Amino acid sequence: MKKIGLVGFGCVGQGLYLLLSGAGYDNAVIKRIIVKNRDKTRIAPSEIIGYDIEELLEDPEIDIIVEAIDDAEWAYEVARKTLVSGKQFVTANKKLVASHLEELTALAKINNSIFRYEAAVCGAIPVVQTIDNYFAYEPIYNLRGIFNGTSNYILSKIFQEKLEYKLALKQAQDLGFAETDPTSDVGGYDAKYKLIILTLHSFGVYFKPDEVVNFGIEYLTADDIKFAQNKNLKIKLVPTVYQQDQKIAAFVIPEFVSSTDSLFNIEQEFNGVSVEAGFAGPQFLFGRGAGSFPTATAVLSDIQHVVDGRQYLYTKSKTPLERLDEKNIFLEIYVRYTEDAVKKIIPFESITEGLITPQSHQLVGYVSLKDLKNIAHLLKRERVSVIATGRRKVKAPSTKFGLVHALSEKA
Ligand SMILES: NC(=O)c1ccc[n+]([C@@H]2O[C@H](COP(=O)([O-])OP(=O)(O)OC[C@H]3O[C@@H](n4cnc5c(N)ncnc54)[C@H](OP(=O)(O)O)[C@@H]3O)[C@@H](O)[C@H]2O)c1
Repeated sequence: MKKIGLVGFGCVGQGLYLLLSGAGYDNAVIKRIIVKNRDKTRIAPSEIIGYDIEELLEDPEIDIIVEAIDDAEWAYEVARKTLVSGKQFVTANKKLVASHLEELTALAKINNSIFRYEAAVCGAIPVVQTIDNYFAYEPIYNLRGIFNGTSNYILSKIFQEKLEYKLALKQAQDLGFAETDPTSDVGGYDAKYKLIILTLHSFGVYFKPDEVVNFGIEYLTADDIKFAQNKNLKIKLVPTVYQQDQKIAAFVIPEFVSSTDSLFNIEQEFNGVSVEAGFAGPQFLFGRGAGSFPTATAVLSDIQHVVDGRQYLYTKSKTPLERLDEKNIFLEIYVRYTEDAVKKIIPFESITEGLITPQSHQLVGYVSLKDLKNIAHLLKRERVSVIATGRRKVKAPSTKFGLVHALSEKA
């Protein structure tokens, strides 16, 4: 039986402890748990609680270190030390994985360690292993979804119960879905980390977090909601990566979705991942993206993969795709702002719709992904709502004038 050293004993760590205690699983057992706070009452016996990860690293009986802490910087130390020691490493921490994916996978390879992180992406949905394993030889054209349960919960409250953003956020916080500082969830950062991980497995390409633009839902107002509802649309926070001609682009932007979209009916804290694959066609994975037991289940699945000696395949990394030139990709976006000056900072290629009132300006138009990335910090500073329509066009690299063809006209 393998011995586990667990780092972190909060929502995920305790879920794993209870799951391992009650599920009749006998391939691995938690030998020691490392936490930070010495004054908390624990549900595990005090004899197995410790405060220094060196204890785990120095214990030759411990084979697997499972990291479930809420501090990505410290988690990075734990990850590096574990992999260098040659022990196996399982984590639920998406920020850690997305920020250090190249280095940690290389360390795992050099030290012959297994490094797995299923719980880091969409909780209980087995999406990393599905993409890595079952789609290893499938060309993927498009991968998008709802990867952040907190934002989705808030959007459901806004659209279904007509709550204001602030109240919906407060409810999410009261229920433990949202952190006291919700920026990572509602700002699209959490969804971006997950997108980065899936992009590596789907296309063999590693984007650093600051290479992928992300907008969140934190600046949505009643005007934006009304705009969507007047067209029978909902707004969802949608991370997207797609390929065209063996090149890819990735971004996280709230999106208007229609009732024909598979994401339309994903509500509350649920997640969904939509994949368009070459041979398999469309696929959709749906489930709980967070929570103690759903996340612990994914960690347990990783533990079993470690027990079986199975590392991820990273098949797509052997022939990574290139990146699309972002200055040639034009996304149609809706923006809502109040200050006149804002329009000047948005280099629209063309405007398709506009509604200007004394209170607010709502414009829809095409902007290149490169420009959008360059001005993202200004739009956030001005609290501008940015919502993608899902339509995009591409400018052929050799063409000097205008837009030559619409690539993806969304239904
Ligand atoms: N919660 C979810 O539904 C969910 C879903 C998917 C992924 N995740 C990821 O899983 C990880 C853990 O999340 P969580 O919700 O379980 O967090 P949490 O409930 O806030 O618990 C965090 C745990 O980390 C421990 N910790 C913090 N700093 C530490 C340090 N320096 N040394 C040792 N222990 C330390 C804390 O110790 P004390 O108990 O002593 O304070 C606590 O036990 C995060 O990366 C999160 O993004 C969570």
